[in-house]
Amino acid sequence: MKFQLKLPNVKNSIFAVMSQKANEFGAVNLSQGFPDFDADPKLIDLVTYYMKKGCNQYAPMPGVPALRQAIVKKHQAHQDVEYDVNTEITVTAGATQAIATAIAATVCPGDEVIVFEPTYDAYVPLIELQGGISVPIELKAPDFKPDWADVKNAISPKTKAIIINSPHNPCGSVLDSSDLQELANILKNTKVLIISDEVYEHIVFDEKPHVSISSNRELRKRSFVISSFGKTLHTTGWKVGYCLAPEVLTNEFRKAHQFIVYSVNTPMQYAIADYLQDSTAYERVSSFYEEKRNLTLKLLKKSSLKPLHTSGTYFQLVDYSHTNFENGIEITNYLVKEKSLSLIPLEPFYQKYEAPKLIRICFAKKDKTLKKGLKSLNAF
Ligand SMILES: Cc1ncc(COP(=O)(O)O)c(C=O)c1O
Repeated sequence: MKFQLKLPNVKNSIFAVMSQKANEFGAVNLSQGFPDFDADPKLIDLVTYYMKKGCNQYAPMPGVPALRQAIVKKHQAHQDVEYDVNTEITVTAGATQAIATAIAATVCPGDEVIVFEPTYDAYVPLIELQGGISVPIELKAPDFKPDWADVKNAISPKTKAIIINSPHNPCGSVLDSSDLQELANILKNTKVLIISDEVYEHIVFDEKPHVSISSNRELRKRSFVISSFGKTLHTTGWKVGYCLAPEVLTNEFRKAHQFIVYSVNTPMQYAIADYLQDSTAYERVSSFYEEKRNLTLKLLKKSSLKPLHTSGTYFQLVDYSHTNFENGIEITNYLVKEKSLSLIPLEPFYQKYEAPKLIRICFAKKDKTLKKGLKSLNAF
């Protein structure tokens, strides 16, 4: 049967493809962004506790109140920004559902949505599913920060939203408050919305803070601020995230959310709410990953592949431009087949611009996994 395809050019995500190749070739998997170590046993015990206590039926549509309260408290402590527990926060099935829902709730056919290339792979298909048009702006090496003049030029009467991602996957760049002020000045007299993907908010290095979009008053009023406990608590498989947004935006978000997913798994929500009462649960994550970044840099010293600077996230880019490999697909295929190491090429993050000769390493792994995997790069 033939029918009109909505996403004719979309293929399997590169993360799934490279993880599958890692399994096929018995390679060390430093490709997909998930830890190979477990979450805190205390957190797992809390899930069991709440399951045994009978918290196994539908949670309230916006999320269990205890978790909403804990998130609002965390955001206040971390960013000094207040959100209302009842009207400005929704618990979601991971950040992906929050991003999909924010787009579904706001983007109409023909609307333009500005994205930055390299672009996390979910954004463009999610825009296109709503009939929207993505407008890519290039982030240039080596610092991969937006050129705000490009953003100003890209805004048209059709621009509905901008998707921001800081700390940035795959580049590891972070925005600071002067970036946010530049963006605020550009958007001041427009109705452009922001979908701010802040899933790596608790993974920032070199004693620099994460500056949430919400910390700028002009931006807060037009933003969906999205995060994920998958990244913060090493529980990517639980798919629990959230969306903070002013009431008027949260109302629209929840209209879509209630029919897309209705609510999110109940025992995990109660467990995370309890776990967050101790703020070290998220405060220690940056230093934990900073050690892994530093170990990665140390291990890369034996290789001629040059690392770029990573200010946040658990990804490290390395430059292979001095080798004979034509592109990232070629070098990552070679590595997985011949050197038993699975990494991510940058080409799938690009639609309009040419991908630089960089590949991505995920360092959310045990030290022994990093040592074993990165040894393969000494051959360069
Ligand atoms: C930038 C970015 N946004 C969103 C997600 C998805 O988060 P979740 O697993 O909570 O849906 C990821 C996961 O890798 C990511 O890197």
